[in-house]
This record gives sequence, structure tokens and C-alpha cells, in this order.
Amino acid sequence: MKILIHADAAKAVDCVADLLVQRVQRLPASVLGLATGGTMEAVYARLIAAHRAGAVSFGAATSFNLDEYVGLSPDHPGSYWHYMRQHLFDHVDFDPACTHLPRGDAADPEAEAARYEAAIVAAGDIGLQLLGLGHNGHIGFNEPTSSLTSLTRIKTLTRSTREANAQYYQRFEDVPRLAITMGIGTIMRADEVVLLAYGAAKARAVAALIEGPVSAACPASILQMHRKVTVVIDEAAAAELTLRAYYAEVHPNGGPATI
Ligand code: GLP
Repeated sequence: MKILIHADAAKAVDCVADLLVQRVQRLPASVLGLATGGTMEAVYARLIAAHRAGAVSFGAATSFNLDEYVGLSPDHPGSYWHYMRQHLFDHVDFDPACTHLPRGDAADPEAEAARYEAAIVAAGDIGLQLLGLGHNGHIGFNEPTSSLTSLTRIKTLTRSTREANAQYYQRFEDVPRLAITMGIGTIMRADEVVLLAYGAAKARAVAALIEGPVSAACPASILQMHRKVTVVIDEAAAAELTLRAYYAEVHPNGGPATI
């Protein structure tokens, strides 16, 4: 596990955007695993800027998002489909036929989850998987106690996750209770994983992810078993790491940003 600690959130975001851009420059037909959440908005803004500057094209790439809320159609403002169009897809040159999210409004969500898993397998699995981190250590919507070998399926969201996402809805009661999410096993098949977390509110989950036991109590901790993971954090999110000085010695100032 490569741990890159940056002075602030902006530098951590730049680092992750650089890693994605480098991957697509090197392998234009990359299969990207994309994430949502407030953390990623700044990353996508950097990707849009890089695309507008002519540094990168997504025209040959394919994307699969981690998750979607059950019950929401792609045009619902609280859906992750909507988020992705607003923050990335409407501003870069992905072929719309090559961008994928689960359909939250599918008549049979379990069949939709199985279809989505099969589509990822058919694409040859994810090349680079981008991840955020929930306050409780979730990745995608794999809440604590998720099977560490799970595939894409329906998960019930915890109250704390619904509260963290309530800002995107008029009322807390409007936040969906269920989501379709890539499983932990799905994520673990990715060639490489880049996880981004910043801010003091993520410090406890970051410490559990990097230094805690591998446990379904902190689903992100399974990344300790992955061959190629880069965890990109800022100083605030690094605050509870026991071996923080060691990580800073290996990669001073979080650099260089190469996988
Ligand atoms: C959400 C998403 C995750 C995301 C996480 C953190 O519930 N399903 O993919 O990484 O929670 O969100 P944020 O970046 O807003 O802190």
C-alpha cells in the first residue's frame, strides 16, 4: 500500500487527478471505476480542466461507477447518474455508450445488480478504481459487515451514511435506504486502486483502513490485501496514523504522483 500524505486537500486532489490523467494518457482505452461524493467533485473539476487544456481525452475510455440509489431514475437530482453528468460526463468526451452506472429505477434491482456485475466482467474488469471513504470505513456503499468477497448487490444504508448524504436531499426522509453497489470482491479485482480522503472527519476511518485489522467492521481495510493500492490523503486525514512519520519519509510531501 502506497500512502501519499499531502500538505492540504487541494494537493491531494491534484495528485489523484494526475494519477487518473496519466493512466488514460498511457492507456486511452482504460476501464475506469468512478466514485461519487463530495470528495470527488474537485477531482472531476481537475479532469475537466485537463481535458479542456487538451491534456487528456476520454474518448476511448469506459467507466463504471461504484453505486446508485435504489428507486431513483437517472434524471432524479439526487441520483448518482445526475451527479456524474453534472460533475464530469457533460464536460468531457466520454462516449455516452461507454459510461455505466446501475439503474436505480430497475424493476428488479437484484437482477440489475447481477447484470451490472456481468457487464464489469465482460469489460475485462476495472483497470483503475477510484475510491472515496465513508466515515464508517465504507467503500462504494459496502457498509460495515459487508462480505469481504461480495459482488454487486443491494445494500441497506446505515443511518450515519444517510445522514452524511442528507445534504443532497430536501429532507432526511428522502434519502434512499437501499443502494446497488459494486461488491468488495468486485473492487478487489481492479488492477489498481486509488483512494482519496481528506479532512479531519476522515482521520479515524483512514487509520482503520491503513493500520487497523483487516475486518468487515471497516470494509476499506480489505485494501491491505490488494497488490496495488495508492491512498492519497491530506495532513488532517493523516492525524491518527501511528506510522505517519514513516509514510512521510518514504514519500516526502506526498510525491511523486506516479503509480
Ligand atoms: C458515499 C459514496 C461513496 C463515497 C463516500 C464518501 O456514500 N457511496 O462512494 O466515497 O460516501 O462521501 P464524501 O466524499 O461525500 O465524504
